[in-house]
Amino acid sequence: MKSIQLNIQDAVYFAEKQFEANKDQATEAITKLAEGTGAGSDFIGWVNLPKEVPAELVARIEKTAERLRENCEYVVCIGIGGSYLGAKAVITALSDSFADYYAPAPKSPKVVYAGQNIGEEYTAELQKLLEGKKFGIIVISKSGTTTEPAIAFRILKDQLEKQAGKEAAKDLIVAITDANKGALRAMSDKEGYETYVIPDNVGGRFSVLTPVGLLPIAVAGHDIKKLLAGAADMLTATEHPGPDNIAETYARVRNALYNNGKKIELLVNYNPKLHYFAEWWKQLYGESEGKEGKGIFPASVDNTTDLHSMGQWIQEGERTIFETVLSVKKPAVSVRVPENAENLDGINYLAGKNIDEVNKMAELGTKIAHVEGGVPNIRIELDKLDEYTLGALIYFFEKACGISGYILGVNPFNQPGVEAYKKNMFALLEKPGYEKETEAIKAKL
Ligand code: PA5
Repeated sequence: MKSIQLNIQDAVYFAEKQFEANKDQATEAITKLAEGTGAGSDFIGWVNLPKEVPAELVARIEKTAERLRENCEYVVCIGIGGSYLGAKAVITALSDSFADYYAPAPKSPKVVYAGQNIGEEYTAELQKLLEGKKFGIIVISKSGTTTEPAIAFRILKDQLEKQAGKEAAKDLIVAITDANKGALRAMSDKEGYETYVIPDNVGGRFSVLTPVGLLPIAVAGHDIKKLLAGAADMLTATEHPGPDNIAETYARVRNALYNNGKKIELLVNYNPKLHYFAEWWKQLYGESEGKEGKGIFPASVDNTTDLHSMGQWIQEGERTIFETVLSVKKPAVSVRVPENAENLDGINYLAGKNIDEVNKMAELGTKIAHVEGGVPNIRIELDKLDEYTLGALIYFFEKACGISGYILGVNPFNQPGVEAYKKNMFALLEKPGYEKETEAIKAKL
């Protein structure tokens, strides 16, 4: 696909045999995803989603976004994991890096986040920020029962009702949840909030192209039709197996590297706007593949920043890593290094160059050094950072993740391991229904 190019030449050399060996498994994986015959196939609604989002749904999302944009200085997006990372990834990638430092302007509310942690200071400081402000809430939870967003929603709903009045608050709250199940569904129906449904067959980490991601992204002022168009074009480009299917190629090369001892994948960016894209990606791959004692550990760095902290380890630490670099071809703006007559800082050799030319040389120099140091390098080049390209990139990673999980031999669409900490936390908090677990865990303390 034109807007995204994959280059594996500096990676595949390390695992040629393994790469050849997984070809048939990849073909089989693509067939399973298309036909719904693989493990976890109840959760592959995301496969055709970009082409199936009804135009009326997109129009309703845009209308809701417009209402929130008109009436709010701040919109709090409440959710955790798959219920916030996709929106935050896209919004951060497309927003001015200093957007948070500007005052909210009419029809351009600030999107802030809650329910993604249980930090008391974070909550108190958010309450303070919202004091006396016109704000709205988008509360997102597929299960409708997740503790972190439930706490945040209870607190912020109270604050909103106090500040705006109970009736007005109803129009400023939008819930995105299951069609029938969960406390959030019951509460929304009772209170009369506008709601959107997260399809049953789309898991949290695959839900960014449902209202879960689309509404907050639209509230932030970005074009969700273009996002979906990019995803739909990537769907077409990755539908069939073969050497031109870049999702298949990426899945195969990372699996080949894994089978030849590379157990950690670093998603590397050279643009800080992509920081949260990596957070989204880590959840996608970590929750999908990390099970049954298997799975590449997904990690990330923001370069060149992290070359000054993690660079040493990457260059010379244990040789169990490979890198997947997200490289944006062209920045949207131009800033040049100026000439300086005195040249006291010694950087006149850079005068007249764009900042990005320096960045690209840092990227190239790093790649050569890391590859020579035993770190295979996969490169994903993006034409630019816009809605269309990000939509395509999201779908590319989702599709590759499904293929990769099946090649690995796991069910990429469940997350049984996430429940273990919750059970202990509920037992420790003496949640009704957990009496036995409470007794058992207290005996261990
Ligand atoms: O991918 C997942 O399933 C999880 O990370 C969930 O998205 C996360 O736990 C939030 O769950 P929920 O949307 O049910 O509140």
